[in-house]
Amino acid sequence: MQVDLYERIWMWAATVLIVLFIGAIMLTAGEEAIEPPSHVETIDPTTISTNPEFAKPTIVTRPDGSVVVPVVASMFAFAPDPIEVPAHVRVTFRITSTDVIHGFDVAGTNANAMVIPGYVSQFTMTFPTAGRYTITCNEFCGLLHHMMVGHLVVK
Ligand code: CUA
Repeated sequence: MQVDLYERIWMWAATVLIVLFIGAIMLTAGEEAIEPPSHVETIDPTTISTNPEFAKPTIVTRPDGSVVVPVVASMFAFAPDPIEVPAHVRVTFRITSTDVIHGFDVAGTNANAMVIPGYVSQFTMTFPTAGRYTITCNEFCGLLHHMMVGHLVVK
């Protein structure tokens, strides 16, 4: 079979690109711990004000020292704020929304989750460096989306 030189070059170029893209996904998945959400837990957003975990979200320390942080996102704030957690400890965030889709992005870390009403977004991570981090909402949620900022204090 006769394949033109240019055709062959483009076939190889396309193959190299595909390998590069898949490689980039594998690398970030491994190195940056980037993963799709795997925790499917539903919640009725109209009952959050009476929900034992989310009505007054309180940070809980488990017997093994790890920490669970329930967070409620709503137009246009996060509760609790600030969130205070210890460094070098496994921190599990459990985040839900009372109204629309919000984002929960801890600037300077790879903590980043979409917060969808009706669901509890959950992920666990460890903060190696103490400091004050900014939490931003990275999903457009309304007129004051740009003002929706929270704080995370790692001690
Ligand atoms: Cu909440 Cu944008």
